[in-house]
Amino acid sequence: MSAKNFPVIRRKLLGWYKKNKRDLPWRRTRDPYAIWIAETMLQQTQVKTVLPYYERFLNTFPSVESLARARLERVLRLWSGLGYYRRAENLKTAARQVVRDHGGKLPREYSQLRTLAGIGDYTAGAILSIAFGKNYPAIDGNVRRVLGRLYAIADDPALRDVAIELVRRTQPREFNQALMELGATVCTPRAPNCAACPLKSECLSRSAARPTNHSDGVRAKYFTEVTWPLAIVRCGGKILLHRRAAAALLARLWELPGVEMTRRDGEASALRRQLRDLRVNFAKPRRIGDIRHSITHRRIRAPVYLFDCTALIAAPGPRWRWVPRRRVAHYPVSSMTKKALAVLAAHETRSA
Ligand code: ADE
Repeated sequence: MSAKNFPVIRRKLLGWYKKNKRDLPWRRTRDPYAIWIAETMLQQTQVKTVLPYYERFLNTFPSVESLARARLERVLRLWSGLGYYRRAENLKTAARQVVRDHGGKLPREYSQLRTLAGIGDYTAGAILSIAFGKNYPAIDGNVRRVLGRLYAIADDPALRDVAIELVRRTQPREFNQALMELGATVCTPRAPNCAACPLKSECLSRSAARPTNHSDGVRAKYFTEVTWPLAIVRCGGKILLHRRAAAALLARLWELPGVEMTRRDGEASALRRQLRDLRVNFAKPRRIGDIRHSITHRRIRAPVYLFDCTALIAAPGPRWRWVPRRRVAHYPVSSMTKKALAVLAAHETRSA
């Protein structure tokens, strides 16, 4: 690799970014808190998904103090549907750390940022460069792919060295976001638009014959196929929700009862067995639709069954609740549950 082309790359990329950057709300602020929220939401999640969540979150919790004071339940409710809920729990924990240890202001030092819950190398670099204008790299999946292709290198430490060197003598706020933007809009994982790339003359991987070669950046994903039937237990105007244990994955979210299966048949009876302990009497369950959902490495097919119960009983335990339909929106529910309830709404419209 020739270090000589660093100035050219900085200049070309910044010029391109100036003309082509998307107008995103977190690019209109210098507030470190808002930038921290955005960068946390953007991990593993696309810009268009994040936009409405970002606005709502900052309207509800406009400052570190307000987030530190908030009930976790409320934070999770706002996060509901965004996935990777540990991020929301960490934000809340870190907000309390910032109030307790840093007078409510995000620290400006890498080592201090890294002591906060959920802030890893990427988020620390993003906050330092974007909010505080410090020359730190922020290497996420997009940046890894762009630099990997540009210099035909696959891994750290070489890739990291390049990122550090490039950001060392430039406007870090703009430069790091320019790399992310190029990765998100031009140097995409599967079909990069090399013709539109400002760095095409410098790119060591560019070739009409093999445009996706070199450090694709996206590690091959191995999905496990999972069947996960869900039960909507309906009684009068209420449905039955179950709350996950605090230590579980997707902790503390409310969700529909369901059962994870490796087999594809016998779904309804698996659900019936699952619900037996509830001591609720049901009419014969009806399958009202199917949803699909992916979490990390699992691709889930979830058939949705409607169980109409014949008499309302007390909630079967402390982590169970009968929730009036119009109140469900006030609960932090998992994305699968949200999708299944949309299936119920469509079913009800059809049968009305
Ligand atoms: N992905 C991660 N951070 C981003 C940012 N600041 N702008 C756009 N996409 C991003």
